[in-house]
Amino acid sequence: MAKRVLILNGPNLNLLGTREKSIYGGDTLADIEAMCRETCEKHGMTCDFRQSNHEGELVDWIQSARKTADAIVINPAAYSHTSVAIHDALRTLDKPILEVHLSNIHQREPFRHHSYVSAVAKGVICGLGPRGYTLALEAIAEILN
Ligand code: DQA
Repeated sequence: MAKRVLILNGPNLNLLGTREKSIYGGDTLADIEAMCRETCEKHGMTCDFRQSNHEGELVDWIQSARKTADAIVINPAAYSHTSVAIHDALRTLDKPILEVHLSNIHQREPFRHHSYVSAVAKGVICGLGPRGYTLALEAIAEILN
């Protein structure tokens, strides 16, 4: 059976393409979704790509992933730096989690330097723009095979 990857995006990422383009670039979230779908197809994986501005909704989706996904790619956006709830939900999953940030959070304001998600992620990619998502998917394909 095809491996299932859940790709989660946190708050404000729906505004990509118009939001702080000098930091996040000009690609929209739909562009990133298309790149992810292409990479998943290339590796025979299915892709469930979602975005929410709401912490509880992200927690619900992570909980559902216990039964419906084989791996997770997550850009938790601002919740990376604040959410113990997302950390706790992710740590209940016994499957690979890759954390992605478009920007290099370590070159930015000090409040972005710590992510609650990194402690429960198998790997973290930041600063490579949308390519970070496809690299994370390539890594997942390798890990799951
Ligand atoms: C981000 C970095 C976060 O600090 C920020 O709050 C975001 C996006 C990134 O992809 O670079 O919304 O996760």
